[in-house]
Amino acid sequence: QELQLNLEQIEKGGYEHFMLKEIFEQPNAIKDTYRGRLLSKEAIIKMAGVEDNMKMFLNANRIIIVACGTSWHAGLVAEYIFEDLARIPVEVEYASEFRYRNPVINKNDIVIAISQSGETADTLAAIKLAKSQGAFVFGVCNVVGSSIARETNAGAYTHAGPEIGVASTKAFTTQITVLTLIALRLARAKGTMSSSDFRRHLIELEMIPDKVTQALKSDSYVKTVAEIYKDAKNFLYLGRGYNFPVALEGALKLKEISYIHAEGYPAAEMKHGPIALIDENMPIVVIATNKGHYEKIVSNIEEIKARKGKIIGIVTKGDKSVKKLADHVIEVPETIESLTPLLTTIPLQLLSYYIAVMLDKNVDQPRNLAKSVTVE
Ligand code: G6P
Repeated sequence: QELQLNLEQIEKGGYEHFMLKEIFEQPNAIKDTYRGRLLSKEAIIKMAGVEDNMKMFLNANRIIIVACGTSWHAGLVAEYIFEDLARIPVEVEYASEFRYRNPVINKNDIVIAISQSGETADTLAAIKLAKSQGAFVFGVCNVVGSSIARETNAGAYTHAGPEIGVASTKAFTTQITVLTLIALRLARAKGTMSSSDFRRHLIELEMIPDKVTQALKSDSYVKTVAEIYKDAKNFLYLGRGYNFPVALEGALKLKEISYIHAEGYPAAEMKHGPIALIDENMPIVVIATNKGHYEKIVSNIEEIKARKGKIIGIVTKGDKSVKKLADHVIEVPETIESLTPLLTTIPLQLLSYYIAVMLDKNVDQPRNLAKSVTVE
């Protein structure tokens, strides 16, 4: 048993938990994901699974993404990326709902299944159904040779390395990285993006690992914020556009490991319900980076402030407006809008991690949850 313990300590590489190790592995994990695929000098993206099926992708009327949990959130980010950059309509489905509702699937539909483990029962069943109805199924998995990887017609691995913590972290950011690469490749092939814009995206994507390293430097400040709000009973997470799914993911992380009730919402929907919950006891995490809808988010923050909610803003470095209104701001480096989720996710992972540690919860193996759900 002692040997077992020591082995685990070695595997944690000096970190107290796998989750923290995996959070800090993200700069390298993202690099591993685009290595050999993103060739910025030549200004090309090379992905065999996409290249070999390019005709299929170019003829696709729509993409249906099926996934569960955190992978479903990566799918939601992908919806923004594919529609915005490659102009392909996307629907994002919970695999469990999709498989049981007699979905309309056409021959020219591409189904993308996203799954870290590649073993999630509902996702596996959803792709079997899609295949049986003639759809082309593409997998985005982390575990090589997993059931979903084998069942799909083609795919792209995330190459994040093993993820042990039940709460998904590096799998999420690497899934977004793979999906961004695919969207960019298709955008170029379809001509929905100019070559200079394409190049700019490649250069920006290559800078993301260093920027994630920068974002991770908020670590000790996030700890301070965690200390202040760890006893809150509820949290609200708000974001717009590309950062709406990040708000959902931030809330999920907090629920999963600290058992605090949290809800993610599109910031503009706040007025249709959640605003009724806001009082001086409610911490609200608002993702307010400087691209896309910034002024709108600032006015959402003003509405929260008027109701005395406690505001934790996730902002772009150098931000001024949110700083004036928020109780705390956590900065992330600047990047282009479509890549902001890769940065704004980082402080939210750290926040849930530190709150869970402070509440003495089992961070790596939260109660009632499993790393891969192979039953319905
Ligand atoms: C479980 C895990 C989550 C994960 C979800 C989907 O609920 O606890 O972290 O996001 O399954 O798993 P998959 O392996 O398909 O990505």
